[in-house]
Amino acid sequence: MEKLIIVGGSKLEGQITVSGSKNAILPIMAATLLCEGEAVIHEVPRLKDVMVMIQVLRFLGAKVKLEGSNLVINSASIQPQKINEVLMRKLRASNLVIGSLLARFGEAQVAYPGGCAIGSRPMDLHIKGFQKMGAVVSEKYGYIEAKADKLVGTDIHLDFPSVGATENLMMAAALSSGTTILRNVAREPEIVDLQNFLNLMGGKVAGAGLDMIRITGVPSLSSAEHEVIPDRIETGTHMIAAAVSNGRVKINNVIPEHVGPITAKLREAGIVVNEGSDYVEVFAKQRPGPIDIKTLPYPGFPTDMQAQMMVLMAVANGTGIVSESIFENRYKHVDELRRLGAKIKLEGKVSVVNGVPRLNGALVEATDLRAGAALIIAGLIADDITVIEQVHYLDRGYENIEQKYSQLGARIVRVNNGVHS
Ligand code: UD1
Repeated sequence: MEKLIIVGGSKLEGQITVSGSKNAILPIMAATLLCEGEAVIHEVPRLKDVMVMIQVLRFLGAKVKLEGSNLVINSASIQPQKINEVLMRKLRASNLVIGSLLARFGEAQVAYPGGCAIGSRPMDLHIKGFQKMGAVVSEKYGYIEAKADKLVGTDIHLDFPSVGATENLMMAAALSSGTTILRNVAREPEIVDLQNFLNLMGGKVAGAGLDMIRITGVPSLSSAEHEVIPDRIETGTHMIAAAVSNGRVKINNVIPEHVGPITAKLREAGIVVNEGSDYVEVFAKQRPGPIDIKTLPYPGFPTDMQAQMMVLMAVANGTGIVSESIFENRYKHVDELRRLGAKIKLEGKVSVVNGVPRLNGALVEATDLRAGAALIIAGLIADDITVIEQVHYLDRGYENIEQKYSQLGARIVRVNNGVHS
């Protein structure tokens, strides 16, 4: 079993480059199923989640090549095969193939993606949307089965701005007849990237980034070439790592506007953040001041940064409050941070973090992807040695994380059963 071993206490200094966005590439890969030609995508991060999505596309009959960070997908001869639970459970985002398959073939049958460590993640908003477009959807024996002779454009108001439901419905509507208006949609930058990709394939989508998206269906979609946006959550993770290590780091390949909510909170805590056209530079001269955060849909503070920001709050000069409003059970990292000496009280969806001057190294476990990121940041600044187990979670969303931090001066290695790997 692979572990990360970190000797804490190094200031992070230098430059680091952010990889392509995980949450942008996954829906774009699902959208390539709509394309009758070849899709070429650049800046693709080599992540476990991307590899699983490749398996899903290949299972459906797509020809997929990943060379370096370039992905070529040909979905000309795919078939809407039933996707079993072994594949579906490996990746929640695999549910995004439903919209594309339904739009192109009038049918999709996939195993329920299942729950996950951060709380139940239902599909009701996706399903209600497909039904409004004329699909008949049944859920039995652990499978979601959707059928429609032809999806018909309509007006859909989401109860909550779900990222996945917005994306799935955009893809379903792309080949429907007529126009679909999606209201109260997610406004995340990844939704805009999906819109751009759909339009490059010949789609007619407008409004992404605002709270209403209009999609006029077209008869078919064809070849496209696209470069995926940089990962704003990876960027935010490095920003916090730089800040708490009292270092100075220039983070390249960034769209500063996408990390606006993180920049605002860091500045509130007294951290200096300089923005350039495609980079941010972070440096800290003193212990962070106390802040409160509440996770919200974009452009609010991202739930995917809650665990990492909690580390900054854990060493802040005062007390702060975290309110998690997106997921019901996204506090698994709290127990692990307590092992490192953090003083955190948890009550339902709210936690109170009393900053301490120093954390201490310990044996901890990454309980999910972002919890793992938080533990790396904590390990980088803790006294002595921190060992992080279950690092496979980190590989789902961070490319070469230990190499990137080593370049900045961190002392971090990956070992496999005690052997350096
Ligand atoms: C996406 C991101 C994930 C991020 C999350 C919220 C990807 C691949 N993943 O996940 O990293 O943490 O957005 O920013 O892009 N919900 C329902 N019914 C539904 C759908 C969602 O109740 O049909 C609820 C969920 O249970 C959750 C909330 O809505 O509590 C947000 O979920 P959603 O925005 O759909 O997240 P994902 O698309 O799964």
